Amino acid sequence: MSDTVDNPFFARLWTAMSAREPESLRRLRRENLAGLSGRVLEVGAGTGTNFEFYPDTVTEVVAVEPEHRLAVLAERAASSAPIPVTVETETVEKFLDGGQFDAVVCSLVLCSVDNPEQVVGQLFSVLHPGGELRYLEHIAGAGARARLQRFADATFWPRLLGNCHTHRHTEATIVGAGFQVTGARRDWTFPAWVPLPVAEFAIGVAIKPA
Ligand SMILES: C[S@@+](CC[C@H](N)C(=O)[O-])C[C@H]1O[C@@H](n2cnc3c(N)ncnc32)[C@H](O)[C@@H]1O
Repeated sequence: MSDTVDNPFFARLWTAMSAREPESLRRLRRENLAGLSGRVLEVGAGTGTNFEFYPDTVTEVVAVEPEHRLAVLAERAASSAPIPVTVETETVEKFLDGGQFDAVVCSLVLCSVDNPEQVVGQLFSVLHPGGELRYLEHIAGAGARARLQRFADATFWPRLLGNCHTHRHTEATIVGAGFQVTGARRDWTFPAWVPLPVAEFAIGVAIKPA
């Protein structure tokens, strides 16, 4: 596995998309970060869209972003964030070195890592006992949407969208790593009938048992 990601097409696309996010998604980002405190690891920060939403009870955010074009934008967002943010330009797999965090934040990223089971296991190990994983991830659907997701994943979607996979059972992966999900719900950024592979999101808190 490489230490960095080099994907100019996706970087351009994500820069444009993250600058025009719907209010429904911004609301979910705010909710995902509400009440956090202490030292936080953010995985795959993109352009740093989350940074403005961290509460001031967070003492430090270490944000990992391996695509260097996106990391430059994340550093810019870090400079105006309400809390101290350091951007590290490695993949999370390479970055994690046994450091300890009070919380880990994943938003729209567990779809993009090569091996989610391995990454979530690593995230579990860098949390203090009692620490929390906050997640906001689009998830595998059922029926016709599942068929659409499997087709998208097998063809064009990961190539166009920075290795994004739409048919992932991310909450099962989180529980499988040893986390206890203490609060979670589903939300839709588009009405359920819209035939898009990534309309349904899971947002939740998962605790590493003390
Ligand atoms: C869809 S974007 C989401 C960005 C951000 N989390 C957000 O909520 O806007 C996925 C991000 O994950 C990053 N990424 C992909 N593979 C990664 C890895 N192995 N480690 C860390 N970040 C990764 C990509 O570079 C990209 O910035």
